[in-house]
Amino acid sequence: MKIKEIKTVIKEYNDKSELSAEDINLINIAREASKKAYAPYSGFKVGAALLLENGEIIEANNQENVSYPAGLCAERIAIFYAGAKYPDVPAKALALTAFKDHEFIDEPVTPCGSCRQTLFEHESRFNSSIRLILAGKKKIRIVDKVGDLLPLEFDKTYLER
Ligand code: THU
Repeated sequence: MKIKEIKTVIKEYNDKSELSAEDINLINIAREASKKAYAPYSGFKVGAALLLENGEIIEANNQENVSYPAGLCAERIAIFYAGAKYPDVPAKALALTAFKDHEFIDEPVTPCGSCRQTLFEHESRFNSSIRLILAGKKKIRIVDKVGDLLPLEFDKTYLER
């Protein structure tokens, strides 16, 4: 038996002032998107701002449904829209925020498992990295790429084994 350890590097900031103007702009756009989410069932409004290599910023938020599984997370709406509108353009950064009970949550929100897998598909497809800017009111986390949050990821090589 041998033990393998997997390391993930996450940068944490307590203050937005330490971030670049580009990251702060993305967080502000994600915040505005959060407020426009359709989340009457959970009350948890997630906002996403996805920066593409061509400079476009795609805004998205979660869209819920009375038949709960029919709803979709903000991240997947953003990445699917990017794929539909700019099929050849890689994404390079994604800011995420969450709004609940009339305020932004303190802790950074983190992509769910299905969103990680979906965003990872984009990274694999373009051989690129999507920097995650996970912004809470009191703490911001930056992860260099989605693959870092998906250890032992299921990728297309498995289909060829
Ligand atoms: N949600 C997202 O939009 N992104 C995530 O990564 C986590 C969860 C949404 C789905 C649902 O509408 C609400 O947050 C509560 O789970």
